[in-house]
Amino acid sequence: MIKLIDVSFSYGDREIFDGINMEIGDGEWVALVGANGSGKSTLIKLLNGLLVPTKGRVLIDGMDTRDEGNVWEIRRRVGVVFQNPDTQIVASIVEDDIAFGPENLGLAPEEIRERVEQVLKVLRLEPFRSSPTYALSGGQKQKLAIAGVLAMKPRYLVLDEPTSMLDPPSRRDINKIIKFLYDKEKITVVYSTHNPEEIFYATRVIALSKGTLFFNGTPWEFFSNPERVWKCGVKLPIITHLCYKLKKRGLDLSFPIFSPKELAEELWRLKSKM
Ligand SMILES: Nc1ncnc2c1ncn2[C@@H]1O[C@H](COP(=O)(O)OP(=O)(O)OP(=O)(O)O)[C@@H](O)[C@H]1O
Ligand SMILES: [Mg+2]
Repeated sequence: MIKLIDVSFSYGDREIFDGINMEIGDGEWVALVGANGSGKSTLIKLLNGLLVPTKGRVLIDGMDTRDEGNVWEIRRRVGVVFQNPDTQIVASIVEDDIAFGPENLGLAPEEIRERVEQVLKVLRLEPFRSSPTYALSGGQKQKLAIAGVLAMKPRYLVLDEPTSMLDPPSRRDINKIIKFLYDKEKITVVYSTHNPEEIFYATRVIALSKGTLFFNGTPWEFFSNPERVWKCGVKLPIITHLCYKLKKRGLDLSFPIFSPKELAEELWRLKSKM
């Protein structure tokens, strides 16, 4: 379990969080949302000890991130993937890059080889195993960054807007892989995003605003209040937006609606009342 207890954090005298409390349990998929500058990346860096709170405590499976002796184990358990894969790729050949983390854990060579093979397969990077990393596309590079983190067998996979620099097909591809890891490998996911489609994968939405936890609930609850959604720098899904506009024009639709099928059913319901 990830636990934040009264966490405050400042960059110098600039306060970002003031007394945040939060728990993320095993088996959850949390979408972390908030307007630009609301502190999503800062929070993510607090989760693996890249930053430590100025006040309060961050506990990973009971281990305090401020305790230097815990740093290695915490970094192994909390795998973080950042927005820009170029900042995370360390080796010049794909399979060497994946092996880098396990090598640093001091694992036996057979174990390292096994892990590299496993993640090459899961991320469908096998054809690129001997490719130079610089020659990969943006989507492939982000897969490689995820592969490097997965080879450490983390319990928590934390992703900071991992698809924001990618085209829609690469975005969908990455999302499918994370969904597979969540469903089949039972990995706990914390995923920061502005994208409504990606928020729907989550079991829970946590929104940050002005240094506080502004919202904590299901995606359905999150999208049920358009003002809240916009305040977090997120757009409504297209169908939900259409439904919102029709409602403003006086149609007595239920809200929120997410699929064309639901909207069609609602319109039929209204028509049959006329
Ligand atoms: N190293 C730093 N030094 C000083 N201030 C910083 C530093 N990093 C971030 N900040 C400030 O902290 C605040 C939170 O930034 P953070 O990057 O965590 O937000 P974010 O929600 O991830 O934003 P975005 O959606 O743009 O990625 C911002 O006001 C930012 O300017
Ligand atoms: Mg950020």
